[in-house]
Amino acid sequence: MTTGEALRKRVRQTLRDQPYPTVTVLSSLLAVQDDMGYLTEEAIQEVARFTGTTINEVWSVASFYLNFRFTPPGDHTVEVCWGPACHLRGAQTLLHDILGQLGLSGEGETGDSHISLKLNTCLGACTQAPVISVDHGLMGRMDSERALKAIQGASHPRRRERRHSREVR
Ligand code: FES
Repeated sequence: MTTGEALRKRVRQTLRDQPYPTVTVLSSLLAVQDDMGYLTEEAIQEVARFTGTTINEVWSVASFYLNFRFTPPGDHTVEVCWGPACHLRGAQTLLHDILGQLGLSGEGETGDSHISLKLNTCLGACTQAPVISVDHGLMGRMDSERALKAIQGASHPRRRERRHSREVR
């Protein structure tokens, strides 16, 4: 089986195995990206087939939303909120220090592909501002020291267990 065929099979399986039916192009794309971390050309084609629409229509949805990505993410994802509440509570300093630590000048992957850094306009925990998330685990009332420690600890085994927690720590 070629890599492309294996990818197609995985995408079809993902779309079929959703606990709730993925009936729209958007929900199908979200399911596939949740599983694979990004969208490949094969994924776009399979979503078009699954939803009974055209590849162009699927591309138009996928390219409209900034949360979809078309290249593999880093091993770990760090999101820094720079929405209004977080901005007022020091997100700019936090972001400056995190960018410095990661050797980045903006969103993207570190040179070793270990970390993907994303900016978010609201992580939904404004009362805990400033907020970051590490592998989807929200962390509130951050300061630079705690944030850098959390990012360094991203690959710690206990950290991986919490990867999908939405609880604010
Ligand atoms: S503005 Fe940062 S969590 Fe809402």
